[in-house]
Amino acid sequence: MPTFEPVLLRRIGKPNSASLETYRADGGYRALEKALKMAPAEVTETVKASGLRGRGGAGFPTGVKWTFLPKDATTVYLAVNADESEPGTFNNRIIMEGDPHQIIEGIAIACHAIKCGTAYIYLRYEFGRSYRALKQAVEDCYAANLLGKNILGSGKDLDVYLHRGAGAYICGEETGLIESLEGKRAWPRIKPPFPAIEGLFRKPTIVNNIETLACVTHILDRGVEWFKSMGVPPDPANPRDAGSYGPKLYCVSGHVNKPGCYELPMGITARSLIDDYAGGVWKGRKAKAVVPGGMSMGFLTEKELDTPLDFNGPGKVGCLGLGTAAVMVVDDQTNMVEVLYNSCRFYSHESCGQCTPCREGTAWMTKILERILDGRGQLRDIDLLLEVANGIGIIPGTTICGLSDGAAWPVKNAINKYRSDFEDWIKSGRKSTLVSLKMKSGH
Ligand SMILES: Cc1cc2nc3c(=O)[nH]c(=O)nc-3n(C[C@H](O)[C@H](O)[C@H](O)COP(=O)(O)O)c2cc1C
Ligand code: SF4
Repeated sequence: MPTFEPVLLRRIGKPNSASLETYRADGGYRALEKALKMAPAEVTETVKASGLRGRGGAGFPTGVKWTFLPKDATTVYLAVNADESEPGTFNNRIIMEGDPHQIIEGIAIACHAIKCGTAYIYLRYEFGRSYRALKQAVEDCYAANLLGKNILGSGKDLDVYLHRGAGAYICGEETGLIESLEGKRAWPRIKPPFPAIEGLFRKPTIVNNIETLACVTHILDRGVEWFKSMGVPPDPANPRDAGSYGPKLYCVSGHVNKPGCYELPMGITARSLIDDYAGGVWKGRKAKAVVPGGMSMGFLTEKELDTPLDFNGPGKVGCLGLGTAAVMVVDDQTNMVEVLYNSCRFYSHESCGQCTPCREGTAWMTKILERILDGRGQLRDIDLLLEVANGIGIIPGTTICGLSDGAAWPVKNAINKYRSDFEDWIKSGRKSTLVSLKMKSGH
């Protein structure tokens, strides 16, 4: 197993790792000092040259996104996406709680690059520890002139506000987040216009994920060559692949011996991540299914575990993409009908309800699975599930946002890759405790 020195996680677990004092003692804020001496466009070019792609799920090249801002914009906002609601994902939380200054430093560098004087951190409500750590860090930065007026004597002003959401998955979708920050219900907006043209308070806005901004800090500190020394170059067979560079925080959960957050170069295979780092599948069992990047990305079968977890890999075996790189392991004694039911219940509950195909489709997929798990399924329900899944989402062009693609993908993958689990359950007519428990609790 090759050794790899973590960078994003290097301070996690050290005494007082969240304090400004220890952060500065470890070289913190020297990247910001460096960036402030550069022209904003030069900082953007550096991030662009690094090949950094957004870690929030879509993998859009960060520096390129920053260049989409109108050149003559007088007010620009940065909305920092700390909603982290994708099932299985917890890497933002770990760095917010344990090393919030590397994020604030990344925010300040990004704000210099995009000429922004106000940043909002939109934080998932349940993350109480992250809130307290970030609040303290922001206060300490104001006291140390790292935020506020004329930061570090550079002439640049920057205010950072923390905003706690009320706890809904859709608040992580960038335009839902913007609506929520404006005090409204988090209903995603129809795009275009994209937020870089018209976002928060109808002003040009960049939305970036917490891990993305932490990477910005280290790119400025260690340089483009360091960042590009890790990862995977563009796939020549895929003209849309921009490569996958840098370190990545992989969350591993489910049926493994050592669940946790592992920092590794982009492109490690699912098999190596599970066996070499997460201690292998628990109880000496085999993996039946592995979620490559948060539940909405679908499933890898055991035979597909040598797939590299980069932006290009999971899509090659029928998954939606790398998503948040949150890996969930399902062992070979688990039935995929029950796994899929849990997934469908989540997305149906979280659909904001604006688009009929998403609102009705996610609800119907849940009801069909409930019927199967209650012993009342028919074999034709399997194709009915597929028909509904194929009809909802941005990809078939029927909805406003990607929540419905994320709801549909686990259905498509589960049926295409584990059809016999569905057929066997329906033929047996057995009942699942998941359904009786749900009926008892009413949820
Ligand atoms: C339904 C849905 C939920 C999302 N949730 C999150 C989230 O919790 N955190 C996040 O950073 N991005 C989330 N995204 C992606 C954001 O819309 C956006 O692409 C991202 O925040 C951009 O930041 P990045 O370029 O740094 O990745 C979600 C997208 C969708 C469609
Ligand atoms: S796809 Fe679903 S979650 Fe997204 S806007 Fe439409 S109804 Fe809301």
